Amino acid sequence: MGIKLSISLLIFLFLSFANFGSVLIDGSPIAPALYVFGDSLFDSGNNNFLPTLAKADFLPYGVNFAKGVTGRFTNGKTVADFIAEFLGLPYAPPCLSIHKSTILTGLNYASGSCGILPETGSRLGKCLNLKEQMDLFEKTVRSDLSGHFKNPNDLAEYLSKSIFIVSVGNNDFLNNYLQPKLYNTSKRYPPPQFAQLLMGDLSHHFERLYNLGARKIVMFEIGPLGCTPSIAKTQNHSGNCAEGTNKLASIFNDKLRATLANLTFTFQGSLFVLGRANGIGYDAITSPLKYGLEDGSNPCCTTWNNGTSACIPWAKPCFQPNSHFFWDAFHLTESASSVIATGCFNDTTVCTPLNIKKLVQV
Ligand SMILES: *[C@@H]1O[C@H](CO)[C@@H](O)[C@H](O)[C@H]1NC(C)=O
Ligand SMILES: *[C@@H]1O[C@H](CO)[C@@H](O)[C@H](O)[C@H]1NC(C)=O
Ligand SMILES: *[C@@H]1O[C@H](CO)[C@@H](O)[C@H](O)[C@H]1NC(C)=O
Ligand SMILES: *[C@@H]1O[C@H](CO)[C@@H](O)[C@H](O)[C@H]1NC(C)=O
Ligand SMILES: *[C@@H]1O[C@H](CO)[C@@H](O)[C@H](O)[C@H]1NC(C)=O
Repeated sequence: MGIKLSISLLIFLFLSFANFGSVLIDGSPIAPALYVFGDSLFDSGNNNFLPTLAKADFLPYGVNFAKGVTGRFTNGKTVADFIAEFLGLPYAPPCLSIHKSTILTGLNYASGSCGILPETGSRLGKCLNLKEQMDLFEKTVRSDLSGHFKNPNDLAEYLSKSIFIVSVGNNDFLNNYLQPKLYNTSKRYPPPQFAQLLMGDLSHHFERLYNLGARKIVMFEIGPLGCTPSIAKTQNHSGNCAEGTNKLASIFNDKLRATLANLTFTFQGSLFVLGRANGIGYDAITSPLKYGLEDGSNPCCTTWNNGTSACIPWAKPCFQPNSHFFWDAFHLTESASSVIATGCFNDTTVCTPLNIKKLVQV
C-alpha cells in the first residue's frame, strides 16, 4: 500500500514534471509539436551559445522563473511560451542546447539581434539569421526526426499537424535600416522597396519551410517600433511614440498581410496566419489600463542610457513588472506577452484568418 502510493506519487510527479509549462496537466496536447523561429522576442536561450553582445544571460532577465536566467530577453515567459502552454506542450528548448534531438514536441531556433537579411544584427556578434534557422530546421528534420517515424508519411503527417510560429523583421529595422551610420540600406532603398526586399527573402524561406513539411505557420507582425523606449525616448521629445518609425513598421506589415495570403493561395494545403501584434501592441502601449497595465512607455528594469537600452546586470527592476508593457527598452514584459498570446489563441481578429485554437482543428 505504502509502496503503491509512493509509486503513484512518483508517476504523478513525473507526469507533472514532463508537462512543465503546460496548463493541461492531465490532458493531452492539442498539436504534436511547436516549432519556433525568429528574433529576441522568441529566443529561449540560443544566444547563450553564441559569441555576441546580444545576450540576456544575467539577472534581472528571467526573474519570474524559479530557475532564474534562461537567455530569454524578458522577465518571464515569451509569447512562444504562452502558446506552448495553450497547446499543452512543453516550452520549445533552444536548438543550440541540444546536439542530437530526441525531442518530438518542438524546438526553438530564434536568435536575438538577427533578422531576415543576413547582415542584420551582425555588428553585435554572431546570431542565427532566418536562413541559418531554416538550415538548422532542415537538419532536425533529416537527421533527428526522420529516425523517429516508421515511414516518411508518418513524419509528413506529424509535421503537417505541428504549429510553426515566427517573429522576425523587427531587427531588419532596429539593427539595420534605422542605423544609417552602420548600414547603407536606408540610402539604397526607400521604405516600400526595403519592405519588398524583405518580403522576397521571407517568401523564399517560407517556401523552404513548406517543402520540408510545415503546413500551419503563424507569422507575427513587427511591433510599433517607434513606441519602443529606445526610439520613443530619443526621437520624440515628449517621449511618446515616434510615428514616422511606426509608419515604417506599418509598410512592412501591410506587405506581410498580402504576402502570407499569397503563400496560402500558392502552396496547396498550407495555412499562413497573420498575428496582428502591431495594433494590439500599440493599443496596449497607448491605453495600458484597458489591458490591466499601468505603464505603457517606460521599461521596468533599470537600463543603460536612461531607459533607452538593455537592462543593467543585477540592477533592481521596478516594483511591479506586471504593470509595465516594456521590460527593457526593446522587449515586452511577460504580462504584455500574455495579452498578445491569449489574443492569438482565441481571437480571430488578432490571429487571422484563423486563431490558433481553430488552426489546430483544421
Ligand atoms: C552597401 O554596403 C554593402 C556591404 O554591406 C556594399 O556591398 C555596397 O556596395 C554598399 N552600397 C552602397 C550604395 O554604398
Ligand atoms: C510625438 O508624440 C506625439 C504624441 O503622441 C505625436 O503626435 C507626434 O507625432 C510625435 N512626434 C514625432 C516626431 O513622432
Ligand atoms: C504570389 O506568389 C507568387 C509565387 O511565389 C509570386 O510569383 C507572385 O509575385 C506573388 N504575388 C504577390 C502579389 O505577391
Ligand atoms: C539622463 O536623464 C537625466 C534627467 O533627465 C539627465 O540629466 C542626464 O543627462 C541623462 N543621462 C544620459 C546619459 O543621457
Ligand atoms: C479561450 O476561450 C475559452 C472560452 O472562452 C477560455 O476558456 C480559455 O481560457 C481561453 N484561452 C485562452 C488561452 O485565453
